Amino acid sequence: MRLILLGPPGAGKGTQAEILREKYNFFHVATGDLLRETVKKETKIGKKAKRYMEKGKLVPDEIVIRILIGELKKLENFILDGFPRTKKQAVDLEKELKKLEKPIQSVLYFNTCDEISIQRLAGRRICEKCGTNYHIENRPPANDMKCDKCGAELIQRKDDNPKVVQKRLKVYKKEINPLLEYYRKKGIIVELDGNKKAKEVFREIREKLGIDDLHKVKQGNRKNKKVS
Ligand code: AP5
Ligand code: MG
Repeated sequence: MRLILLGPPGAGKGTQAEILREKYNFFHVATGDLLRETVKKETKIGKKAKRYMEKGKLVPDEIVIRILIGELKKLENFILDGFPRTKKQAVDLEKELKKLEKPIQSVLYFNTCDEISIQRLAGRRICEKCGTNYHIENRPPANDMKCDKCGAELIQRKDDNPKVVQKRLKVYKKEINPLLEYYRKKGIIVELDGNKKAKEVFREIREKLGIDDLHKVKQGNRKNKKVS
């Protein structure tokens, strides 16, 4: 199965993609994570991407597309988290996937209100080493500010400061309607209530996609993992 996750910052795209990855063997391809890795490496592209991300703006299409397409060539089943963000990205993606004969089957749209997004992003913490996602109230770590999985420090994403969050929401609102329209016309949008608790959102995904506990997607010889 090949899925796209659409929704505002803090909608829970990454959280649900990780659950799907663990339970059903999907590859989780998150452009935000791919870009943050590129920024860490301090390459020329990374330095350029950083300037946009810190301000809450979208990174130019050609950079994101270049990073992403190379990954998709290697994968059969995947979840795209954070891509596409613009209609142009959606059109380019469709062209590339057509060449690869790997069409998208469903687009999960996490319909989430601003208040919830803001509350979630204010409390989000991530492990600086393995990237595991926490929330100080909704999903706290067992040990104070240390990752349950690897023990490393938990940090706040730079773009989760309130001013940048407002900008990210504004950018999202500008781009989302043409994207929804694009996928509605194709009849592949699955709308979800992103305001609910993570477990309830996951239940809604399973019901609407018709997947069950026995469902494991085939990934050839590659190991199920997060792509970043
Ligand atoms: P990206 O990293 O993709 O950020 P985003 O889309 O703004 O989304 P987030 O990762 O903030 O939210 P999420 O929906 O994944 O929520 P999460 O599951 O973590 O992109 C960052 C930047 O990279 C962009 O601003 C842009 O600059 C650039 N970029 C990326 N892709 C690009 C593209 N295609 N083109 C151009 N530029 C691009 O959940 C948030 C918190 O809430 C967590 O703490 C979690 O534990 C908690 N939580 C999750 N679900 C629930 C729930 N149901 N109930 C309670 N708490 C919950
Ligand atoms: Mg995310």
